[in-house]
Amino acid sequence: MSGQGFELLSGVVAPRGVWWRPANRQEKTWIAIAFVWCMVLFAMMPFWHIKGGQNPTGFRTRVDPEAFAERTFRFVDDYKVGEVNGIPVVAPPPGADVYLMAQMWQWYPALRLKEGVTYNFHFSALDVNHGFSLYPANLNLQIVPGYDYGLKITPNTPGEYRIVCNEFCGIGHQKMLGGITVEPADPNRVSAVPKTDKKGSWQ
Ligand code: CUA
Repeated sequence: MSGQGFELLSGVVAPRGVWWRPANRQEKTWIAIAFVWCMVLFAMMPFWHIKGGQNPTGFRTRVDPEAFAERTFRFVDDYKVGEVNGIPVVAPPPGADVYLMAQMWQWYPALRLKEGVTYNFHFSALDVNHGFSLYPANLNLQIVPGYDYGLKITPNTPGEYRIVCNEFCGIGHQKMLGGITVEPADPNRVSAVPKTDKKGSWQ
């Protein structure tokens, strides 16, 4: 379909002859540098996962939200030591399974832990995605409904910690606060972290 003196250009018809120029040296060098850098960044991910200690390594298993709520209520019944603003305060013994439940718009229950003791945490949500953010420590976890996120946690600094929800979960999202108290291993020692709330309340 070519007329006189011009050629039809089409994506369907292959152009004739060598229409491309082979990459020159400079271009090849830059491609090589970019490729090597990609590989460096790729290798940094697993390296930093192990070396950086920023990503907690836990396990996720499927769980029915109702079953998780039941386990949490049983956990509260077993180790409840008090109440703050209608939320039970629970002091689990060393090595216990600790359940923390997120729902619109509360963290349930409040926890009282001991410094240097390892706990088997279980996190889950009953309704939508929530974000577990621990202040002033720097710990961030995604709390997903239908999944039990298991994590071994050993608090190493006594003090009052706040749990803040960092995943938008509806109209009451910004009020979704919880609390964890870490008591010093030696009760005579003064808390190393200044208390974040002078009123002794987490809400
Ligand atoms: Cu829960 Cu935002």
